[in-house]
Amino acid sequence: MSTPHICSREAALPDRLDLPADFRWGVATAAYQIEGAVDEDGRGPSVWDTFAARPGAVRDGHTGAVACDHYHRYPEDIALMKGLGLDGYRFSLAWPRIQPTGAGRVNPAGLAFYDRLVDDLLAAGLTPLPTLFHWDLPQGLETPSAGGSAEGGGWLDRDTAYRFADYTALVADRLGDRVPTWITLNEPFVHMVYGYALGTHAPGRTLMLDALPVAHHQLLAHGLAAALLQERGLEVMIANNLTPVRAASSSEADLAAADAYDTLHNRLFTDPLLLGRYPDLTAFGTGPDLHGAVRPGDLDLIAAAPLSGLGVNYYNPTRVAAPTEPGLPFAFAEIPDAPRTAFGWPIVPDGLRELLVGLRDRYGTALPPVTITENGCSTTEGLDDPVRISYLATHLDALAAAVAQGVDVRGYFTWSLLDNFEWAEGLFSQRFGLVHVDFETQRRTPRASYAWYRDLIAAHRTRRLQRSRPRPGTAPGV
Ligand code: BGC
Ligand code: BGC
Repeated sequence: MSTPHICSREAALPDRLDLPADFRWGVATAAYQIEGAVDEDGRGPSVWDTFAARPGAVRDGHTGAVACDHYHRYPEDIALMKGLGLDGYRFSLAWPRIQPTGAGRVNPAGLAFYDRLVDDLLAAGLTPLPTLFHWDLPQGLETPSAGGSAEGGGWLDRDTAYRFADYTALVADRLGDRVPTWITLNEPFVHMVYGYALGTHAPGRTLMLDALPVAHHQLLAHGLAAALLQERGLEVMIANNLTPVRAASSSEADLAAADAYDTLHNRLFTDPLLLGRYPDLTAFGTGPDLHGAVRPGDLDLIAAAPLSGLGVNYYNPTRVAAPTEPGLPFAFAEIPDAPRTAFGWPIVPDGLRELLVGLRDRYGTALPPVTITENGCSTTEGLDDPVRISYLATHLDALAAAVAQGVDVRGYFTWSLLDNFEWAEGLFSQRFGLVHVDFETQRRTPRASYAWYRDLIAAHRTRRLQRSRPRPGTAPGV
């Protein structure tokens, strides 16, 4: 495939987009959303294969069985990324490709795939930024054999954290010579809520607040894995979905509801990592032991490995009011007057600045450098996608505004390179790609946003060079 050339129509780099010279540009994807090839080369089933096969679970009965066929077409996808001029590529490793049952036996063909991917990325000048877990748990860990937890498997089972650590060590031993930085988990909040509380994602449990141990077991897995990665001289990040929470009014009841939601969505996953303790969860009917899941020493372990960066996935703010019925201590409220993505998510670029400045104010020196590990929107546009371009441009402005306010932000990874399998929404309805994918033919066609992003990156790089070039008349090295 040749590198696409599309003329973009906008000045790529507004002066106000003043980002650090070493700011890193990327795109993000996830294994189950793009790879396909679910039965090939010894891959075991994941909870998403099982869930997607349930009638009614995914829109139009779609599955990730083929998705973007990236498993076979990755050279073409790397060429597309090279055409963008990216610094890095965030992708995820499919655990069931590497350990088909999630424990024990390693599948050499699975590891070999990621080995080739990493080599080809490096050859194309892209730094690989792998995520070890983006929701496709090996099915073997969901339905544990005798001796597993009575409460059920998956992330309800403490043992899954230890299996994740084993998997991390074996992958790091294979790829750590070429991959400097690792993301342990993707969005433990979203996985807990959709997968275990509401049941709209795999594994489809509807436990509501009884899902809270899933938060702790994921964070424990992060801590165990982080220690193993750092022992090997590797850098560790985690990618959390965070949202600035706005109270619907300044009434005491609405403020309390906003505080409760902020605790559940943001602090539950950030306080233990950065402060070594859980926030006050009494509004959710549990003490700091999360229904007995937390054991002595766990929190020390979770906070022990310093993060080299906090990955932040930002899509929208959340507006919250006091609940009108018993159950949860909050209710969602509409954000008035905001334009919406195809998903119906409000488009509020300044929410990104608000979130980043809020993180810095809350955690101070405990906050590591931040990388935006996902940001983007689904639209119903075709190849001409001004709404996506405007979404990205305005969010980058907000990011630059946060940098101007002193937040240390090191990079930006757009979600996503390709239209892909958008979980419960299936293949066609929610398209997030800079590149359009025709799922009948697997033809990739770059959208206008692809050219826009490419030109933005090139302009930033030119400015970077201009700034680092010595002024005429100055001696070298001065
Ligand atoms: C739209 C499709 C359209 C395709 C190609 C996508 O973003 O969702 O309906 O056919 O682009 O233009
Ligand atoms: C997830 C992605 C998903 C995106 C858009 C994020 O929560 O990490 O896997 O495709 O949002 O819904």
